[in-house]
Amino acid sequence: MCGIVGAVAERNITAILLEGLKRLEYRGYDSAGVAVFTNDGTLERTRRVGKVSELDAALAEHPLVGRLGIAHTRWATHGAPNERNAHPHFSGDIAVVHNGIIENHEALREQLKALGYVFTSDTDTEVIAHLLTHKLKDLHDLTVALKATVKELHGAYGLAVINARQPDRLVAARSGSPLVIGLGLGENFLASDQLALRQVTDRFMYLEEGDIAEIRRDNVQIWDVSGNPVERQTVQYSDGAEAADKGEFRHYMLKEIHEQPTVVQRTLEGRLSNDQVLVQAFGPQAAELFAKVRNVQIVACGTSYHAGMVARYWLEELAGIPCQVEVASEFRYRKVVVQPDTLFVTISQSGETADTLAALRNAKELGFLASLAICNVGISSLVRESDLTLLTQAGREIGVASTKAFTTQLVGLLLLTLSLGQVRGTLAKGVEARLVEELRRLPTRLGEALAMDSTVEKIAELFAEKNHTLFLGRGAQFPVAMEGALKLKEISYIHAEAYPAGELKHGPLALVDNDMPVVTVAPNNELLEKLKSNLQEVRARGGELIVFADEKAGMTNGEGTHVVQMPHIHDILSPILYTIPLQLLSYYVAVLKGTDVDQPRNLAKSVTVE
Ligand code: G6P
Repeated sequence: MCGIVGAVAERNITAILLEGLKRLEYRGYDSAGVAVFTNDGTLERTRRVGKVSELDAALAEHPLVGRLGIAHTRWATHGAPNERNAHPHFSGDIAVVHNGIIENHEALREQLKALGYVFTSDTDTEVIAHLLTHKLKDLHDLTVALKATVKELHGAYGLAVINARQPDRLVAARSGSPLVIGLGLGENFLASDQLALRQVTDRFMYLEEGDIAEIRRDNVQIWDVSGNPVERQTVQYSDGAEAADKGEFRHYMLKEIHEQPTVVQRTLEGRLSNDQVLVQAFGPQAAELFAKVRNVQIVACGTSYHAGMVARYWLEELAGIPCQVEVASEFRYRKVVVQPDTLFVTISQSGETADTLAALRNAKELGFLASLAICNVGISSLVRESDLTLLTQAGREIGVASTKAFTTQLVGLLLLTLSLGQVRGTLAKGVEARLVEELRRLPTRLGEALAMDSTVEKIAELFAEKNHTLFLGRGAQFPVAMEGALKLKEISYIHAEAYPAGELKHGPLALVDNDMPVVTVAPNNELLEKLKSNLQEVRARGGELIVFADEKAGMTNGEGTHVVQMPHIHDILSPILYTIPLQLLSYYVAVLKGTDVDQPRNLAKSVTVE
């Protein structure tokens, strides 16, 4: 997704801008650009389609040297990913970079065209540049012009703007797309994510919704949504540079898959007593609020949505609470009927996904009991705007295809289930104690599953030449199958569909032949025999089966059937364990196919636009 970096300093800032863009690369993008007010007194830019390294190479040939600049990685929404549409966009003396979407860009474009402005791109961003230039004619000052401009914008934006006529400042506006100011000594910075600036500072000021900021070398001024001057708190980080290298691993994704025992352990830390979940882990008011909960509504996107789907099985089975799960982009535009005493739960790795945030904001108007965010980023918008929070402790996830964020979300959701069951008295003490014990053993079980790495790598060879695959699961393993299919399509570009195994005969069976491998997960539970019958249906049509089966499930290799034995685990925790081999499978298939594993085509890590 798009990334913004800006700097105003006494030194040449081009290398800082480029390093910032590189640090945002993991979010996914298709072009990059930089605009610098050069030491020669001119505003110049360089833009390139493709990776930041292309931009870097172009700048090595024709350096831009200056003390004020803005830079951007673009993930195309309006207009193809080409150089013309890459940011920064210029209008007269103005350069603009923008994250988000301007919904009324067509109307504004017509007005500006009528006034004689000439458009050189297909983007919604260029209207902002021209509108600013237009406002500057009367208002003269960039900050004043920006305040007037944003009043006419509908939609979402994080904006950074520079003006060749006022080269002492960088101005910024936030509405719907995060922005953070990095504070230096005699120099200041701006970015869409603090990670971009960790090489230059550890002190940050987060802009809030509606804020406008004027950033100079030695001074930062902020106005809130009503135009009043405000101070925003300075946050200082002391954790040093977060591990951002791949270590012994070939890709971030593999590293992150292997981190799962550690991060699951961290997500459990301080949240379990001897035989109970500590409900306060969700916040001081959690116990009181949870006692009132009669329904749960979960909303999320992508992988996080799949975590919510697993949680539904847990919440209904263990806590006896009716639960609905919906993708955020649907929920936010639907007329929703809210049952009394419904807890609204969002799940998000980044806490900045535009649809999930919008769904939360809508939910606040709809009479939910309270909102809870299960999120991996403590300083995210989602966390700030929710009543309760449970932070997953996955650490920074760089691979676009989410892995450790998913399993830690599942742990968080199981903690939620047990807490609700405990507080409402719907879960027997003995059952909770047993599950707490199983949760403590989970990191070890995950380690055992990861030890099957090379077995899964061999199995991956079966997929290298295939174009379609089917993933089957029953019960809480159905969302696991969905997540397995999502991983495979995201990084190997093989078409993968997931079905509840019982639905096979209602359609997908027609597709099964020896060119369509069928992957399934088979824990040893009451659905096992039914699943085995479904698998027979596949074999009878010549379909090749890959089964990840509990070592006690009595399943063995046979013609066209490849069985990988999984360590035995309590059925409730099996969705977490069975996710691991499916992650490894998609990883090794992608490696065989030679795709860009960590940054798959067309996808973004954090989708901050609608
Ligand atoms: C993007 C990412 C997915 C992620 C989804 C939701 O599509 O590529 O990996 O699951 O967004 O993101 P969130 O940060 O809200 O979990």
